[in-house]
Parts: sequence; structure tokens; C-alpha cells
Amino acid sequence: MRTLILNIKELLQVRESNIDKVSGTAMAELPSIKNAYLLLEDDKIKSFGAMETCPNFEIDNTIDASGKIVLPTWCDSHTHIVYAGNREQEFVDRINGLTYEEIARRGGGILNSAKKLQATSEEELYNQSKSRLEEVMQLGTGAVEIKSGYGLTVADELKMLRVIKKLRADYPITIKATFLGAHAFPEEFRNNHQPYIDSIINEMIPKVAQEKLAEYIDVFCESGYFSVEETEAILKAGLAHGLLPKIHVNQFNAIGGVGLGVKYNALSVDHLEVMNPEDIEVLKNTKTMPVALPSCSYFLSIPYTPAREMIKAGLPLALATDFNPGSTPSGNMNFVVATACIKMKMTPEEAINAATINGAYAMGIAQTHGSITVGKKANIIITKEIPSFYQLPYAFGSHLIDQVIIDGKVIT
Ligand code: NIG
Ligand code: FE
Repeated sequence: MRTLILNIKELLQVRESNIDKVSGTAMAELPSIKNAYLLLEDDKIKSFGAMETCPNFEIDNTIDASGKIVLPTWCDSHTHIVYAGNREQEFVDRINGLTYEEIARRGGGILNSAKKLQATSEEELYNQSKSRLEEVMQLGTGAVEIKSGYGLTVADELKMLRVIKKLRADYPITIKATFLGAHAFPEEFRNNHQPYIDSIINEMIPKVAQEKLAEYIDVFCESGYFSVEETEAILKAGLAHGLLPKIHVNQFNAIGGVGLGVKYNALSVDHLEVMNPEDIEVLKNTKTMPVALPSCSYFLSIPYTPAREMIKAGLPLALATDFNPGSTPSGNMNFVVATACIKMKMTPEEAINAATINGAYAMGIAQTHGSITVGKKANIIITKEIPSFYQLPYAFGSHLIDQVIIDGKVIT
């Protein structure tokens, strides 16, 4: 099946030969072709170029993209979209003055979501999660990482990961799974951490690896959650079973998680709302992608990741949603890109790079996703007619997507 998209006003993120990420000043460059064509064959990008060079292809389907921008779908490298119920009451409690940390200390927060998930069947959890997945696909996301971490028992963590596996089998969107048993200590282990850590290391990780339910391991490395030493023990155990680290660090406090992630060659270190100069220094010339989650900063009214300082230091940066019931009940990458521009002072070019190729890197799929490159996945956003791609972050509340194609299939 061949689909030819014609008369594209501007085709963005065109990379003749693949790159795996962009860093520092290179983040400001977003190569494009004006008045372009793009040929998709089955699930792959087959060819692209300027309209005047468009050969006479044999095709099954034509899309006229006059006045429209075409770009690769978003790569959302950090989500928790498999969860049960919601935390609307905590949202209102925060409006009335409680902090996220105070709510967590009272047994709310992650433990509240764990209680709900433990009481929800696998089938019901699948049904709730699939609506969120369908929503983000409509919003232009073509690849998503999904974490466990609201189970917090062997059985419930495995239940979450099986739901992720079923979503992967049932939908065209690319899904990567991350085991996050170390998301919070269950109530009974609040003052006695070791038995829970032992359960993660000796029971959960071997089962996850044996059933091939995840490719990555995550830990919430934060004061009141997992210390640097506890995180290190868990990462080592994960690595011994082939699970690469992608970790939550520096959300509320800088306790050394970034350096630890780099030490263990983490694919990404995520959140980074609070960054010390040494955290920036330690990321230089490493394979670890820093990931910012601006919707989380927005929803919790906490600082934004210091993108300008990091890019100035030559680092790459990826953007993701963090879609979860507590700190970011939104999976809208369009909002993430706009918020990165508005609040973090990233340029539209930088934000789009961060949400496509760098996002792909942060979930280990930069060889197949994140740019318009021959042979990569046919994962495409076609916008409505807009004056330029600057409109995407500028008109931040508008729905500017006309069509989404994922794995060669038209979604909207
Ligand atoms: O990335 N910080 C840790 N985990 C999630 C939120 C968890 C929750 O509140 O449910 C996050 O923000
Ligand atoms: Fe998260």
C-alpha cells in the first residue's frame, strides 16, 4: 500500500541520513523542505523531496496537504498511562492549600493510586488505559513509553506490565515498557525499606525479565522515596537482568540521582526540575538523555527544567508528558511542546527536536522513529492549514492536527 502526500507546505524534521539525537546549538536547527512530497509504503517512509522533483509513482492513495505542515509523530518517552481511576480529590485538596508532598505523607499520592489499581481487574485496567492510549494517538503521539509502578506488589506490578503488553499487541503505536516497582514504599514498609527492596530485587525483577515484560527499569530517586543507595542497588539488579535504567530524578530535590544515572549509563534521566551545576556538568558527553516534563511543572506549580542552561552547556534535551493520575493527568504532547516554548524559553525548533528525535532516543527507538528519513516508520502528523509551524506552540490551546498516520495506518 502506497500513500503519496502532495503539496506539503513544509515538511519538518527531514534527515537524509539518520541521526540519533541533537544536542546544544544543533537543537535550534530543524531541517525542512518547503512545497514537498512524502511517499509512504506500508509501514515505512519510502521517499520524500521537493514537489518539483516528485517522480511519477504508482500509488494507491493520495493526500493533498496544501497549506499544511507535515512532521513526524511525537515520541513520548515517559508516561504512566496504565492506572486505575483518578485523583481528582487530591487535585482539589491542592487547590485548597495542601502540597503534593503533604498529600503523599498522608497516604495519598502514589499509594492512593496503588490501592485503586490493586482493586481493579486486569481487564478493567486494560479498558481504562486503552482510552488514554487512543486519545494520545489522536493527539499525534506515535510512540510511547509506559511504566508500571502503581502495583507495588509482585502480582499487581506484573498485572500492569501485562496490560502494557496487551496494548502493544492491539494498537499500531510503538510501546516500550518500563518496570517501576520502586515508585514508592507501600505503607507497611514505610519505616522498614529493606524487605520491599528485597522483593523488587529477588522477586519482581527476575519475573519481569523472565516473562520479557519490560525493557527498562525506573526508580523514583527522591527524598522520602528511594535514596541514592537504594536506587543503585535496584539499578544494579535490573542491569543484571538486562533492564536498562531510565530514572526519575531531581523532581523536588537534587540528591545525586543524575550522577548515579550517568554512572549506570541510564538511557535517560527524567524530571530535572531542580538542577545543580554539577548535575549539568555530569551529563556532558554522556549517552544519557535528560528529559523534561513541563506539564508536570505546570500542573504541580513547581519549577520548570532549566532548558536554556542545559542547552547552553551543550546538552541534548527531550520532552515528554509524564501522563499519570497524580502530577500530570494529561498526555497531550502538543501542550508539552507549547509549554516548553512558553515557560522554558525553548524555540519551536528546539521543542520539536526534543519531542521527536530526542524523545525517540530517550526510549531507545531513534533508529526507527523521530525523523523523516527513508526506512523509518510511517508515523506522520498532518496539521490543519496553518500560517507556519510556529503556530503549533503559539496557538497553544487549539487543536491544529488534521490527520495522524501511525505505522502507515490513518488514525484520525
Ligand atoms: O513522574 N514522580 C513520580 N512519579 C510520577 C507521579 C506519581 C503520582 O503522583 O502518581 C511523576 O510525577
Ligand atoms: Fe513520571
